[in-house]
Amino acid sequence: MNLNIELASRTNNMGENIIREILKVVSRPGMISLAGGIPSPESFPIELFENLQKSVISKYKSEAFQYGPTEGFLPLREELVSILANEGIEATAKQIMITSGSQGTLDAIGKILINKGDIIAVESPTYLGALSAFNPYEPAYIGIKSDEEGLIPKDLDKVLSENSVKFIYLIPTFQNPTGKTLSKSRREEIAKIIIKHNALLIEDNPYSSLRYKGENIKPIASLCPENSVYISTLSKIFAPGLRIGYYVAPEKIRYWLTLAKQGIDLHTSSYNQALAAEYISGGYLQAQIEKNVELYKPKQIAMLNALQAYMPKGFTWSKPDGGMFIWVEGPKNYNMKELNILAMEQGVAFVPGEVFFSQKDEGKNTLRLNFTMASPEVIDLAIKKLGELFDK
Ligand SMILES: Cc1ncc(COP(=O)(O)O)c(C=O)c1O
Repeated sequence: MNLNIELASRTNNMGENIIREILKVVSRPGMISLAGGIPSPESFPIELFENLQKSVISKYKSEAFQYGPTEGFLPLREELVSILANEGIEATAKQIMITSGSQGTLDAIGKILINKGDIIAVESPTYLGALSAFNPYEPAYIGIKSDEEGLIPKDLDKVLSENSVKFIYLIPTFQNPTGKTLSKSRREEIAKIIIKHNALLIEDNPYSSLRYKGENIKPIASLCPENSVYISTLSKIFAPGLRIGYYVAPEKIRYWLTLAKQGIDLHTSSYNQALAAEYISGGYLQAQIEKNVELYKPKQIAMLNALQAYMPKGFTWSKPDGGMFIWVEGPKNYNMKELNILAMEQGVAFVPGEVFFSQKDEGKNTLRLNFTMASPEVIDLAIKKLGELFDK
């Protein structure tokens, strides 16, 4: 049947997520995927779940299966207080809000903040999922300039001076897609600029626990908390399928995000929140982070070594201290969207970098590589194949 229904005009701004499309192809047997941004299934603490489930049921009984408050399950919010404090974010349990993944916060941000034509300042490139969450509300984007160290504070200052910017969306640590991390001094400069312009920062921080070398750097939000929404998640350090994210925001924004969430899903799964609370209170989180770092670090080293060994002249790449991604730039005349099709024919998939740009026709010569899924040996083989393909 051909249903004759007129869709809302905002669907014009909603495209298919190309990464999800690539992931459908890469699920074919024999394909090596460097495309996803997902944790290795080996990292999941499967053996723990039986015990966690038992303690959830004996401790919380029917509460774990009942509707719960939109703000989140209080025992989980209480557990998150010290985790956030360690990251430099001071908040009481009642100021910490639980969402269905950090994606849940991004979606609600779009809903409560963006009017058609509002200007959002983003890193260029930025996280595709944020663009997908914001696009239906028809914002205009301004990309802030970056160099090898990431976002350039002076350019942010210029953008904020010359435009009425609704908010700035940044991923300062092990950025998706570039893997880059903003230095402490740049963060301090950026916080000063944000305060000077009384701007609003949305800081998305899913990856900072996955650090393979170097010292932790406090989030920008810790330097300008009254101007910041700080978003994080358990997806990369527990299990993304549980969909547990959280945020801390100024009171007015928190109020409206909570109302928005009531319309989205009423609340995040009570049972999953209870599992997460037991996971953290049982002291398993730190061990899990260590396990993930041990698992991913050699994979990242393998990828960096393979890039060095096999990439042709004219290619450069980021050398991140953590996270899940390496960003590669080829010579200007390369079209990575076309090359990805050829690479997939040879059994290797990556994500063409252009999908991470808010403006059309940027980044055609770039690509994002993920190193968490494949083994070091397979990563070496895949990068060798890409090197040969790019050398033609
Ligand atoms: C920068 C960034 N923000 C948000 C998300 C979404 O994560 P979650 O599983 O918490 O919704 C991701 C996932 O890849 C991400 O890379």
